[in-house]
Amino acid sequence: MSGQPARSWDALQAAAGLPRLDARALLEHVSGRPREWLVAHGDEPAIAPVAEQFDALAARRRAGEPLAYLTGYREFFGRRFTVNRHVLVPRPETEGLVEAALKHLPARQIAAQAPGSRAAVDIAAPLRVLDLGTGSGIIAITLALARSDLCLTATDASAQALVCAQANAERLSAPPIDWYQGDWWAALPPGTPRFDMVVSNPPYLADDDPHLDDPALRHEPTGALACGPQGLEAIEQIVAPILAHLLPGGWLLLEHGFKQGLDVRDRLTQAGLSEVVTLADLQGLDRISLGRRPCIPVWPEPVPV
Ligand SMILES: C[S@@+](CC[C@H](N)C(=O)[O-])C[C@H]1O[C@@H](n2cnc3c(N)ncnc32)[C@H](O)[C@@H]1O
Repeated sequence: MSGQPARSWDALQAAAGLPRLDARALLEHVSGRPREWLVAHGDEPAIAPVAEQFDALAARRRAGEPLAYLTGYREFFGRRFTVNRHVLVPRPETEGLVEAALKHLPARQIAAQAPGSRAAVDIAAPLRVLDLGTGSGIIAITLALARSDLCLTATDASAQALVCAQANAERLSAPPIDWYQGDWWAALPPGTPRFDMVVSNPPYLADDDPHLDDPALRHEPTGALACGPQGLEAIEQIVAPILAHLLPGGWLLLEHGFKQGLDVRDRLTQAGLSEVVTLADLQGLDRISLGRRPCIPVWPEPVPV
């Protein structure tokens, strides 16, 4: 027994030294109670072990640890994804990448009718979509759940990230996804068929980017954030052989830093993609660049090297 008088939920929140929303999220997490309950019962005492757990998490939050690592989840596209220190905390900007992917996927090819039935059934082969550097799996899982006519493959260099992504897929009842560990394209088994779409939110900071010292980024895996002296190295590795991995008419969509639009468009064009554009995020900053493999098939077909 500590001998301290029991503290109320409101008192814990007031003494946390955190923005209200952060303190509230931690209180919800440690109490297992929803926000409305905490508002209605704020003057009631919290039991000592729960109050101590809150104090410990509040101290970690004050030191800059992302809220998502403390609570163990982050919302993305209206779903709760489990996260841990092996994966990037999902960003709202990446919802824009998923929206752009959904917009550029060909319309669903369905509408055959089973004999004697009014129900439309899928007849076409599923569209093949690849998420490179899947992290917690947010992109692959969200796409797989958005359209039942997609066949998703997802890769990551980090085995721990893939464990997290697969657990999210299972918990969210996503359709089957093919998961592979390895370095960008080398992760795919030889002979993997081409894709209708490749999506990636790769690391795009330079190794010496001062932002890596920000309290907000310091706790996230460096391999998810930085990729070389320029910050464009991962994007270049993904883009250079892209024609060998896309079907004619297929799309590549990349999230990148807000100052990298011009460089990324340049790489996409040099790699032979057409219809190259950069899309802005909600703050009006360059954030996503995309390009399309021209629809005309070429002979001989480019092969993976
Ligand atoms: C910016 S994070 C994005 C994670 C997730 N897609 C998202 O949007 O939240 C980049 C991801 O790429 C992975 N990665 C870094 N280098 C890689 C490589 N050489 N090959 C494959 N994946 C890599 C990291 O492990 C990390 O999960």
